Amino acid sequence: MDPSIDSTESQTMQTETMKTEKTTETTGTEVKTVKPQPKLFEGARKNWKFVLKFLIVSIVFWLIQFAHQYYVLNFELGDANLGISLVRSFALAGATYFGFALLSSTIFKWKREWNRYWHVRRSFGVMGFVFILFHVLSVIQFYFSGDTSGIFYSINPFENPIIFGVIAFPIFFIMAITSTDWAVNKLGAKWKIIHRLVYFGYLASVFHFLLINPKSLMNIMGYLLIVTTFLVLASEVFWFIKTAGKRNFSTLGTGIGILIIFVYLIISYFAYFVPK
Ligand code: HEM
Repeated sequence: MDPSIDSTESQTMQTETMKTEKTTETTGTEVKTVKPQPKLFEGARKNWKFVLKFLIVSIVFWLIQFAHQYYVLNFELGDANLGISLVRSFALAGATYFGFALLSSTIFKWKREWNRYWHVRRSFGVMGFVFILFHVLSVIQFYFSGDTSGIFYSINPFENPIIFGVIAFPIFFIMAITSTDWAVNKLGAKWKIIHRLVYFGYLASVFHFLLINPKSLMNIMGYLLIVTTFLVLASEVFWFIKTAGKRNFSTLGTGIGILIIFVYLIISYFAYFVPK
């Protein structure tokens, strides 16, 4: 959870994206090295076999989620509802993928040499966003009949946990659009700062799905999401204590990490201990 602990991974990303051949231009006596800027989606184009396999696995993962909602859960309730099944299957697939992305970050910290698989984590994050985009679009279509103002029937997030989702969504959007090699290279050091926002986006999304309809998580796919979320939070706290401890808890990252833990505790207190 310590925002400073991401430095190695962002360095890995930046050095990997800059591995595009350096060309040396000689103008008169002057020799200058030109680092070509990667073209948009160059990484995905070069690695298209991986991208294709990842896409197929993701579609299968979502289809399993959808079939589980449509044929198992809704059927048990006596009504196989297409809208609810779409909303929930995209939600569960997206939230679980975000969890996998963050979990892979913490796994890579155990095994530094696995850092070279950073593109797997990035793919989970970007695909997670695609699922969540479809989740939001299907909510607007099937629950609010296209009227987005209906989402804000209350702006108190404890009465209306959609508000937590509304906070998380733009953060994940920014993460997704700044995930190309081109953006990583263009943003340089700013990339790391922007991507630290993920801790706040994740916080808002966790409370969104834990509070909105807890009963709908009481099934195998819901348990997968809950276990993944628990592992993400536990390993982030572990790495926070380990990394911040090494720096005597004196960095700005430590302060932000403590703030995030504090916000989790405050929101949990209001959500679970203060009578509504
Ligand atoms: C504008 C943003 C969002 C809106 C309007 C929205 C809306 C909703 C609604 C209405 C539900 C209740 C579904 C039901 O119980 O039938 C829901 C559930 C859920 N949402 Fe969102 N959401 C948003 C953003 C997000 C984000 C960013 C995530 C990312 C993790 C997310 C993940 C989930 C999950 C996992 C559920 C629980 C699924 C279930 O009920 O089985 N949502 N959302």
